[in-house]
Amino acid sequence: MIKNKYMKDKLIKIKERVLQEIKEINLPEELEKLEKNYLGRKGEFTKLIKEVKDLAEEQRPIMGKFANEMKTELETAFSEIKKNISTGLDKTKDFVSNFDPTLQSRKKELGRLHPSTIIQNEVVEIFSSMGFSVLDGPELESEFYNFESLNIPKTHPARDMQDTFFVEKGEEYKDPYKFVMRTHTSNQQVRAIERLGAPLRAIFPGKCFRNEATDASHDNTFYQLEGLMIDKNISIANLVAVMNTLLSRVFGKEVKTRLRPGYFPFVEPGFELDFSCVICGGKGCSVCGDGWVELIPCGLVHPEVLKAGGLDPKEWSGFAFGMGLTRLVMMKYGIDDIRLLQSGDIRFTKQF
Ligand code: PHE
Repeated sequence: MIKNKYMKDKLIKIKERVLQEIKEINLPEELEKLEKNYLGRKGEFTKLIKEVKDLAEEQRPIMGKFANEMKTELETAFSEIKKNISTGLDKTKDFVSNFDPTLQSRKKELGRLHPSTIIQNEVVEIFSSMGFSVLDGPELESEFYNFESLNIPKTHPARDMQDTFFVEKGEEYKDPYKFVMRTHTSNQQVRAIERLGAPLRAIFPGKCFRNEATDASHDNTFYQLEGLMIDKNISIANLVAVMNTLLSRVFGKEVKTRLRPGYFPFVEPGFELDFSCVICGGKGCSVCGDGWVELIPCGLVHPEVLKAGGLDPKEWSGFAFGMGLTRLVMMKYGIDDIRLLQSGDIRFTKQF
């Protein structure tokens, strides 16, 4: 009995000592050593357990059971702490008390908007404030909306101006027209008139495709932002006023514009709108050359287009423009290779 009591006390004492020592451990090596010292084959605790067999016969099962319980308790303590040490948490605390809300969390990479999206959003915002609706339309388009409705019949040489991706086995949309990847956002001009009627103010930003050999300033995929305004007595003055407002707001300063004659079958008269280079202030530099940047083809909507949309050209007039959104992005951020925009390289988009 005395021996039994003595052994029980000793087991408890050792157990408490181990639990105490465990708390002071910081490194996995130290923990391993401690475990070996107590629970290893020649460990202090193991040796004590071995003494159970020297006890009086009736005491052996009771003491054996007690010793095993102590051992399990220690083993659990060791395995708990092993987990904590390897995760760098405070080994003496449970999960909840280990949770420190003031600690800085692991840095998460935030996603960024693509520069084309940033500029598109900005331009959309500017046009919205001038009362323009924003419309979306198909990228895979019938020849009718991409060409025919825009006064570009099949035999028209203007079809060669745009290197079109023809979709050979495309389902026929409006017999006998086939599908193409839209070459410009002008495909939505007649769609918009059909949808909204007149008067209307709408813009349609979107991806366009051309079968081009790519280089620093040409890519087979790029963005345009088309605009259409139809009302009674719309003139070139309205077009110029809207373009000036847009560019001044995008660049955050007064920007000068000029119109040069330009040919597009769906506008009459047609123009190329240039604006004074924001880098050199119009004096001339390596980016613009002579101080002007060519950015927005535009003009007054051709009577044939109005007719295609079911409007009477005697009653309605309008302007249309097809801004090179990709070029605007390149200008605004000083990007010198268009291919970077579609590269999918995160290092590129991270900069904006
Ligand atoms: N769609 C023409 C192009 O891509 C641009 C344009 C749009 C011209 C609207 C005039 C009016 O080249």
